[in-house]
Amino acid sequence: MERKTYSLTVFGCQMNERDAETLRGFLDELGYEETEDAANAHLVILNTCAVRQKAEEKVFGRIGRLGQLKEKNPEMIIAICGCMVQQEAVARRIKQKFPFVDLIFGTHNLSIFPELLVRAQKSEETVIDLWSDTPEVVEGLPVARQDNFKAWVNITFGCNNFCSYCIVPYVRGRERSRKPDDILREIKNLVKRGYKEVTLLGQNVNSYGKDLPEKIDFAELLTRVNDETGIKRIRFTTSHPRDFNEKLVKTMARGENICEHLHLPVQAGSNRILDLMNRGYTREQYLEKIALLREHIPHCAITTDIIVGFPGETEEDFAATLDLVDKVSFDAAFMFMYSPRPGTPAAKMPAQIPLEIKKERFARLLELQNKHSRRHNEALLGKKVEVLVEGPSKTDKTVWTGKTRSNKTVNFPGDGISAGQLVTVEITEIKTWSLMGRIHLD
Ligand code: 5AD
Ligand code: SF4
Repeated sequence: MERKTYSLTVFGCQMNERDAETLRGFLDELGYEETEDAANAHLVILNTCAVRQKAEEKVFGRIGRLGQLKEKNPEMIIAICGCMVQQEAVARRIKQKFPFVDLIFGTHNLSIFPELLVRAQKSEETVIDLWSDTPEVVEGLPVARQDNFKAWVNITFGCNNFCSYCIVPYVRGRERSRKPDDILREIKNLVKRGYKEVTLLGQNVNSYGKDLPEKIDFAELLTRVNDETGIKRIRFTTSHPRDFNEKLVKTMARGENICEHLHLPVQAGSNRILDLMNRGYTREQYLEKIALLREHIPHCAITTDIIVGFPGETEEDFAATLDLVDKVSFDAAFMFMYSPRPGTPAAKMPAQIPLEIKKERFARLLELQNKHSRRHNEALLGKKVEVLVEGPSKTDKTVWTGKTRSNKTVNFPGDGISAGQLVTVEITEIKTWSLMGRIHLD
């Protein structure tokens, strides 16, 4: 019998990537096979993102085009899920504007996806199923991981911070931690199956454990992952600067398998803007934490997220962001122009910044950050680094690609190498976004 096929597109962050792995796990169990060919697929799923307007516009464009495919392939089931449709108004708008969509479900009811799919297959009308929050963490869902050597491992879901620009707390619900034993069991199983790296995932990993009956915090969880599982590389994201503390720095310094990389989103360099953003720290406190980290782990790579053009941001405020970027010298930064999200406090703030100014500030920030990224890469020239081999490079099949412990991409030629190996590479050339190297055999 012909196997049913599905096409799955994921927008947004690692959390969505990880959710997509659960969808793939369910679909494996249901006997579906993944295909790149959406036009002929039995099922097309879009796992959407709501963090910026651009992400939402992309999805609307995609749904429109799916409508044309469905005209030619009327049996096709179209499902839209994820953060964007967790906003009820958006879900209703999709149903109205694109009545050919079969299923809309949110972030909280992913665990009942097979049931929802059956309902959608039987129904003439769009099935919308949204829950306002997740009653409890559901364990034991199937997972088909995208990678054979590195894995995402959820540790917390949701966010309680309510940064004034951010939609996430509204679409991902309140913070919930997984039990440490469930996390450790999952990682031990991954190690048994040959995995070398895990990234512990949460909107704010530093608040791990606050809602659990047992007394455990994020630093203690990291120690247990380091000491008890045998996984070779441990990463985590995202850390909130307010909750990032000395205990965690010392844990990172001590844990030999914890990678020397910290992603610590600063968002802005002006205290006035940080306050308006409801971030809960000042630039001075942020700089102190960076100094503490550098004292204990001098070669730790530091990356960040920055928003330009937050409502009311003056030239002086923006200069404070540039100054902070210069002072910290980040290895890399994800930079965004502020995008008003309906329902968040910042969207209603006066003095929204015109697009032209946002663009101009963004370009200045990008130029400055590129200088720092390049400087960090140049410092690696001639150095030997450990690389986890991911496979042949996508752009140049004659070389291998992998990541250093500091999360930098390295490409290098070599025979007799396979994906999943940890190798030593000497850095021989610096490119803007990557490093070139040669395998080092001692
Ligand atoms: N506009 C622009 N950037 C945003 N981010 C979150 N919300 C917004 C918004 N409304 C950015 C933050 C966050 C990253 C994931 O996305 O920098 O850390
Ligand atoms: Fe959004 Fe702030 Fe929560 Fe991050 S910590 S998900 S920016 S509300």
